[in-house]
Amino acid sequence: MSELNLILLGPPGSGKGTQGERLQADFRLPYYATGDILRAAVRDRSKLGREAKQYMDRGDLVPDEVIIGLIAERVERSEAADGFILDGFPRTTAQAEALEAEMAELGRRLTAAILIDVSDEEVVRRLSGRRTCAKEGHVFHVEFDPPKNEGVCDVCGSKLVVRDDDKPEVIRHRLEQYREKTEPLISHFEQRGILRRIEGESPPEEVGDRIRAMLATLKMEEEL
Ligand code: AP5
Repeated sequence: MSELNLILLGPPGSGKGTQGERLQADFRLPYYATGDILRAAVRDRSKLGREAKQYMDRGDLVPDEVIIGLIAERVERSEAADGFILDGFPRTTAQAEALEAEMAELGRRLTAAILIDVSDEEVVRRLSGRRTCAKEGHVFHVEFDPPKNEGVCDVCGSKLVVRDDDKPEVIRHRLEQYREKTEPLISHFEQRGILRRIEGESPPEEVGDRIRAMLATLKMEEEL
């Protein structure tokens, strides 16, 4: 495929970050995760971080006008010329339309919107056991993907913490926000013929294998 412009779509805790890291390693494409970008801004106490924190702590979405510019600037970077992986963006119809307008302006198109499908019960189980590296955002799970040393990131050695928005009441609100604002994107991308559904409740390696197999099929179809 000439370009691989991928979107990872799915409810909170579906494994977008877990699969995004793997895809980035496999395809050597830039990986832009809006949640990670915003959390880094919160840590830096920048203007963006101060504004975003109030929404994130409640489990609300940050306003479209704040987030659209952040991604538009990244998609235009030369490092993204052969493709990119977007995790957590777009999350509203307005964000999807802004991205599509920008891609059209650049003479490019989205390759696939990969929906990682998991149930609400699985989301709660995953988010309540998630541990996130305080420095670089690497993700672990106390039961499903434990770090080699408890409380310490395998990749960079920093402390593992529970995210502020992984408290039970905030998880519930994030799921409501997903149903109301993000789920309509499933039919949006279906209509454009680029939605690819992946069963996401199997172990991470199996989910990753399914995504790679789906991308290999897309590549073959394009070459026919
Ligand atoms: P964001 O960080 O994007 O949160 P999210 O979409 O809720 O997704 P998560 O990061 O919680 O989960 P994930 O799907 O990446 O799962 P993970 O791989 O970690 O956004 C946070 C906030 O920022 C939003 O609430 C909003 O306020 C704001 N924001 C971000 N983007 C925005 C936008 N575009 N517009 C407006 N606001 C925006 O996995 C979860 C756990 O499960 C881990 O512990 C992992 O180890 C484990 N796990 C993963 N896969 C498996 C598996 N197959 N089997 C078992 N365990 C697994």
